[in-house]
Amino acid sequence: MADITTDVLIVGTGPAGSATAALLSSYGVENMVINRYRWLANTPRAHITNQRTMEVLRDLGRDVEDEAYLFATEQDLMGENIFCTSLTGEEIGRMKSWGKHPLSRAEHQLSSPTHMNDLPQTFMEPLLFKTACSRGTQARMSTEYLSHVQDDAGVTTTVRDRLTGRDVTIRSKYLVGADGGNSKVAADIGLPFEGRMGVAGSMNILFKADLSKYVAHRPSVLYWVMQPGSNVGGIGMGLVRMVRPWNEWLIVWGYDINGPEPKVDEAMATKVARDLVGDPDLQIDLRSVSTWTNNDMYATQMSKGRVFCMGDATHRHPPSNGLGSNTSIQDAFNLAWKLALVLKGQAGEHLLDSYNAERAPVAKQIVTRANKSIGEFGPIFKALGLLDSIDPVKMQQNMDARVENTADAEAQRAAIREAIAAKVYEFDAHGVEMNQRYRSDAVAADGATEPPFEKDAELHYQWTTYPGARVPHAWVFDDHGTKVSTLDLCGKGRFSVLTGIGGDAWVAAAKTVGAELGLDLAAHIIGPRQHWQDFTGDWARAREVRDSGIVLVRPDHHVAWRSETVAADPAGELRRVLKAVLAR
Ligand code: FDA
Repeated sequence: MADITTDVLIVGTGPAGSATAALLSSYGVENMVINRYRWLANTPRAHITNQRTMEVLRDLGRDVEDEAYLFATEQDLMGENIFCTSLTGEEIGRMKSWGKHPLSRAEHQLSSPTHMNDLPQTFMEPLLFKTACSRGTQARMSTEYLSHVQDDAGVTTTVRDRLTGRDVTIRSKYLVGADGGNSKVAADIGLPFEGRMGVAGSMNILFKADLSKYVAHRPSVLYWVMQPGSNVGGIGMGLVRMVRPWNEWLIVWGYDINGPEPKVDEAMATKVARDLVGDPDLQIDLRSVSTWTNNDMYATQMSKGRVFCMGDATHRHPPSNGLGSNTSIQDAFNLAWKLALVLKGQAGEHLLDSYNAERAPVAKQIVTRANKSIGEFGPIFKALGLLDSIDPVKMQQNMDARVENTADAEAQRAAIREAIAAKVYEFDAHGVEMNQRYRSDAVAADGATEPPFEKDAELHYQWTTYPGARVPHAWVFDDHGTKVSTLDLCGKGRFSVLTGIGGDAWVAAAKTVGAELGLDLAAHIIGPRQHWQDFTGDWARAREVRDSGIVLVRPDHHVAWRSETVAADPAGELRRVLKAVLAR
């Protein structure tokens, strides 16, 4: 007999674990989360928060979304990546990033009701954790996962209470390993991985200093500094990252992973900060230093039996593109509703297999992209002539050459411009953030051919209601002028039916089949004189079915199925599809 029982035990209170707990509690599922430490993130590692993640927070509630914006640095200040020799030195170039370019901003605004922002992990984790605990999650801090055994009916996990030193057993129906890049849970279930750990060495130097005079006129989150040694290890180049504008900073500087790990003491941290800022007298209020390694590894399978892994436990990669915490929270959004429906007896266990099928390809995609982004700094160094020599004098001469009035210098200037512009794949890759289309048994084909991406799929989000894709966002309006997104009509742990005039039979079918299957199905007619009106026609243009057709949306906003028009037997069709998708 275990000491404690719960339905879902979650190991880790990082973005993945806290998001899972918050979602499960919102869906009314009993859960417990543990963390071996006494508190949450103590450094602001993750910060770039993309629209898809904000949609998860919005699904948790407008209060959760609003609180994120309250503490975040807004998109306008995230601005432009600066490439320079130091903050006081010469600026080599800049690129509009994170939706700063007006064309990119338009794509952001058309894609989602939410905004990208910069929310340090020290704010995101408490927000998710608070949401979880206030909605029912039991949290045990200073509690370390040791081991587990699973059987046909559940999982028995042994944890150590680090305050008393006593071991405690917890019996749960499912176990979630959200225990980060050194996941013991993933190791214990023997998840298969591809790639390798420890590709390059990095150090973080967190400090406070008012740097307004160097940066406030060119607001950005990331200031990339090219100095001798800045292409060694690390994330591609020396980085001065804004944590809070403009008085809290995180420097990321590389070291050679094949050499001894550097001892980053206060003297060294201060020197690196002074070099990158370019002020030999800079006084910093050093908050912390740490070293870490860049990894290039992803799980090809994310679960075994009743144990599911997510977040950095399954995708281990450098922070390039800012995808780690975002993807971790999105893993949670994919798994939580499936666990909830299975635990409530509304879906068969086979539904849980779709977590692997849907999220393992995303793990591979983001690990590959993040590592590729590091290599894409190379052309900038090359164009500046910084790879031709290790002699600082010669390197400076090569960089200076670009100001000459010669054909070679003109070619060099063009090469620098092109190399910086190509970093759009790291700093404005909206498609990487938004374009996930799932293929699994939890998606029902509608017989159509998948629409190919018309533009670069890494850079541009392309809306479609093709089954497996995220339902497109469009604003719809009620009689009182209230404006909601089509995403707001979906989610919240429920399947949703979206239809139009002539689709009443789908609404009736949703009622009948929902009652039969014991499912809470939402149904909305969007059209003139209906509760929701599509005044702009944006939804009609996006939905890819006729007025009387249906788009059936899963709780995670992904399209489960669609039909061009009303079926001869709408209830029969809806029953068939839901039973298939839910493995009933
Ligand atoms: P995470 O590591 O955050 O949490 C693991 C949890 O498990 C912790 O609570 C830990 O205490 C707990 N744990 C571990 N072992 C345990 C055990 N045995 N028993 C109990 N508890 C245990 N991402 C992003 O989206 N945007 C960004 O801009 C950035 N930027 C960024 C910059 C830098 C410098 C770094 C180093 C990283 C980023 N990231 C990022 C990545 C991001 O920080 C990372 O992907 C997430 O923290 C991963 O979240 P997880 O919840 O998966 O693991």
